[in-house]
Amino acid sequence: MRSNNCGELRNKHISAEVKLCGWVDRCRDHGGVIFIDLRDRSGTVQVTVDPDEGNAMFEIAESLRNETVLQITGTVRNRPSDAINKKLLTGEIEVLAKTLNVLNPVKGTLPFTVSIHNEEPIREELRLRHRYLDLRRERMRQNILLRHEAIKTAREFLESEGFIEVETPVLTRSTPEGARDYLVPSRVCEGQWFALPQSPQLFKQLLMVGGIEKYYQIARCFRDEDLRADRQPEFTQLDIEMSFMNQEEILDMNEKLIATIWKQIKGISLPCPFPRMTWSEAMNRYGTDRPDTRYEMELKDISEIAKKIKFKVFSGAIASGGSVKCINVKGGNNVVSNVRIKPGGDIFTEAQKAGARGLAFIRVRESLEIDTIGAIKDNLSEEEKQKILKLTNAEPGDLLLFGAGNTQMVNKTLDRIRQFLARELNLIPNKDSWNFLWVIDFPMFELNQEENRLEALHHPFCSPNPEDIGNDQKTWPTDLPRARAQAYDLVLNGLELGGGSLRIHNSELQKEVLKTIGMSSEDTQQQFGFLIEALEMGAPPHGGLAFGIDRMIMLLSGEESIRETIAFPKTQQARCLMTQAPSHASDQQLKELHVESTWIIPEENSSK
Ligand code: AMO
Repeated sequence: MRSNNCGELRNKHISAEVKLCGWVDRCRDHGGVIFIDLRDRSGTVQVTVDPDEGNAMFEIAESLRNETVLQITGTVRNRPSDAINKKLLTGEIEVLAKTLNVLNPVKGTLPFTVSIHNEEPIREELRLRHRYLDLRRERMRQNILLRHEAIKTAREFLESEGFIEVETPVLTRSTPEGARDYLVPSRVCEGQWFALPQSPQLFKQLLMVGGIEKYYQIARCFRDEDLRADRQPEFTQLDIEMSFMNQEEILDMNEKLIATIWKQIKGISLPCPFPRMTWSEAMNRYGTDRPDTRYEMELKDISEIAKKIKFKVFSGAIASGGSVKCINVKGGNNVVSNVRIKPGGDIFTEAQKAGARGLAFIRVRESLEIDTIGAIKDNLSEEEKQKILKLTNAEPGDLLLFGAGNTQMVNKTLDRIRQFLARELNLIPNKDSWNFLWVIDFPMFELNQEENRLEALHHPFCSPNPEDIGNDQKTWPTDLPRARAQAYDLVLNGLELGGGSLRIHNSELQKEVLKTIGMSSEDTQQQFGFLIEALEMGAPPHGGLAFGIDRMIMLLSGEESIRETIAFPKTQQARCLMTQAPSHASDQQLKELHVESTWIIPEENSSK
């Protein structure tokens, strides 16, 4: 149907007879000559329709609506020098049309303008409802092509390293990654349910037991969790697992993978190895396990000083086992007003959202005189003041913001304020700074404070650091809760791009870890019996990781939401606006599935 793609035509094609197919991006009538911008996936080219070449053809051109599907034949020719369009790659040439053939007209009204010339923002709801139109737009075309290119590069790299792609089941049983499962009722096995995989975690481990040695998969994962700009209920992982490689070897190989992708997509040579930071250092210095290291404003722990001072908010926090930390907003005294850090202010509200009840501050005036609202100043001795100023590197003109109380809350508060202020005060360097960071040595467990029990920080299949657990199984119950995991996350500019670990390949240790998170041996047997059994039949040492592909593309394309990187994403309410999924099932379907709905349609809806 066509000889060339629209976007590939250049000077070298001059005088060539071409046949093109595409969409009418826009039509302009220039007093007797009609210019059609014809667009296909490769780009856009100008087609010139001259009545001298045939009246019938000209009449078709006069009635063309945008987005009509068109086939043309014509001759490539130079554009006059004053008509060269530098913005288009095809801007030096045009195609003089010989024939026009409408392959499919547009019938209804278009909900928005697709054209490459349209710079008006379009409501996301409309874009998602008519995603097929949105995909024709330049932004989505670029993002989808970039996604394809990045995945292709990853595939090529991994296959050159000896990895093979293996698919794992989507109808499976719960794979614990910390979110709620999407459940699928079984018609055949009455009363029983499949879960959609939160990740291929257990299957990839079983592939290692199966001797596959080096596995990867572009794997769809499903998690029923609260959505954010970087989370979708259905998302894609670049999932990797390998046998007989230690942590260093795994990190090294994955750095090379990432560097290859960045080189291919951005043309940038990333410096390897990537920096590494232990989890506890990240928590101390940034209050988070995914620090954005593009800017400073690190957290300073002043608990040692705070425990002795008279100011009750500080000393009380330490007395009840918490901490006092602060960030130094360089030059903040002049640019951040009191209104913003007092109740009702935007910075105060950020602190509140992280659970803080107040936000103490010190303004550092000329000659290091300090100024506060409330009681800090009156309750600080000169020596204490000097110590705080020294520890925080405070200089005249700085603003110190404090968090006091439960350490987790303090970290969360200052991390949140740090990120908020970095955006507000434009501290984040230009878009092309790529601060990769491996966060390593995560703890095996964290305390679920509401239920007062330990939970696996990553998932319960991560191997504990052998230095932290003795060889004697009898000491495991006391060693394990405090052990570090051989787990790692790859963080990029404050976003978790991927994570993984070495896995447990000893069945006894696996049982003990599951016991530590409160699973009875019956539950372990029932839920993970197949894994334990496999570990007893020659499981090799293995480990791996998974990258969030959608997030990777979001960062590579400079987008702010992963919805821009997925062809058919869901909304914040986990809904597809185009197909209107999820939708109701008929009574007959439910009956066949042995399911009864307890959902009662709210009255105002039922009366409609
Ligand atoms: P984890 O749960 O850390 O690890 O997931 C790996 C990566 O997947 C991405 N990600 C998401 N992306 C979009 N929407 C979501 N809802 C979402 N949840 C996670 C993140 C994250 O870093 N089985 C382990 C990996 C392993 O141990 O090998 C796992 O799934 O970028």
